Amino acid sequence: MAMIALKCPEIEVVVVDINEARIAAWNTDKLPIYEPGLLEVVKEARGRNLFFSTDVGKHVGEADIVFVSVNTPTKTSGVGAGKAADLTYWEGAARVIASVSSSSKIIVEKSTVPVKTADAIEKVLCRNCTNPDVHFEILSNPEFLAEGTAIEDLMAPDRVLIGGKDTESGRAAIEALASVYAHWVPQERILRANLWSAELAKLTANAMLAQRISSMNSISALCEATGADVQQVARSIGTDSRIGPKFLNASVGFGGSCFQKDILNLVYICETAGLQQVANYWEQVITMNNYQKHRFVQRVISAMFNTISKKKIAVYGFAFKKDTGDTRETPAIDVCRGLMADGANVCVYDPQVTDEQVYQDLTTQPYEWYDHPNPRSAPVDKSAIAISHDPMEAARGAHGICVLTEWDEFKSYDYQKVYDNMVKPAFIFDGRNILDHQKLREIGFIVYALGKPL
Ligand code: UGA
Repeated sequence: MAMIALKCPEIEVVVVDINEARIAAWNTDKLPIYEPGLLEVVKEARGRNLFFSTDVGKHVGEADIVFVSVNTPTKTSGVGAGKAADLTYWEGAARVIASVSSSSKIIVEKSTVPVKTADAIEKVLCRNCTNPDVHFEILSNPEFLAEGTAIEDLMAPDRVLIGGKDTESGRAAIEALASVYAHWVPQERILRANLWSAELAKLTANAMLAQRISSMNSISALCEATGADVQQVARSIGTDSRIGPKFLNASVGFGGSCFQKDILNLVYICETAGLQQVANYWEQVITMNNYQKHRFVQRVISAMFNTISKKKIAVYGFAFKKDTGDTRETPAIDVCRGLMADGANVCVYDPQVTDEQVYQDLTTQPYEWYDHPNPRSAPVDKSAIAISHDPMEAARGAHGICVLTEWDEFKSYDYQKVYDNMVKPAFIFDGRNILDHQKLREIGFIVYALGKPL
């Protein structure tokens, strides 16, 4: 919304939320999320044509276009628990829109939703609005930005996708929204589709991206078993223009609030459509991701002479990727929990994640393991968790370091100094393949990199 406000000065954009603390933060220079470049964009437009408010009724009532960007988490109970999307917040938003609307509106699905959600939402909107002159036209406009690069992605998107009904009012609504994006996005990048295709395209895009990572992660296991190098494999296949070089980095596992949730959602939709084979195919992407995290922990344990009990392990990076403070579904949670389950003491350093977040994630998140069909809660020894704000201190007295996020700063540390303060033999497990392994070995580290020969 900040980008729309920046690029379309004649359009008034009001971001509303019932959470007062969040809206208050958006009105300061300490935004509630960390995203490179976002503050500059917000500062330029805020107070001009970008506003943040808790007065949901007033601003939704006045709007011509309403973007709904509420949470759609995975259902935790009832039918479809663990897989289906929970649309409680979406339905609640639709009821609010219906109750405050005295003029016709375009309602835009920004949240990632199951296919055919627009249908359900339309029913809620139309049956709850008593004014016969009010018409709601629903569009699907899925978001493809990635965290950490949100501003770049929004400035020059590969595509903007707008799905709508193939009716006169549907087509008019699509063009109305397209004219907003046309302020800065070339026409050939604004794709029009029907509603269901747009909804499904979003789930498919995330499933395909995650599938590439799981494919490379499966190959990383094979590389370790055979002496091949997964980065050399990735480079070789990435030059094939049909495959392309992006999203081929083997890692300790993908995280983030979207990939797992969207795949589970896709799996559920397939199951409800009676397509069990298709559901199994996509579910395997998640199974492989869980296996990769588990495999990483097993490797740490076996490398450190099959026991990490009471050993200090420094964890470099807790966010699910660099340049964000977001820890949702971060592989670091499962890896740390796995290490702690084997008796290790972890000391976490991350440049952006808050202490409270690390502590909360490690003590309250369910602990999921690939060979357990159901999430189980392993008892957590809270005294085994330490958090440090200094990477040197985190590694002091440690037996090993696990690199779990690809933060750039990890590449430039003085590893001789790090090594000098560690217990010997000193291990490094590079879960992102970002460090100079040759140099580390020359210092004296025993280095384990993903999908690479020892
Ligand atoms: C993802 C998609 O990339 C966006 O297009 C989409 O809009 C977004 O989900 C969403 O649905 O909202 P995001 O989760 O922010 O974006 O971040 P990604 O860059 O996709 O990374 C996801 C995870 O995959 C991270 O843990 C990252 O470290 C990992 N990853 C990524 C790898 O392990 N290897 C790679 O080669 C690339």
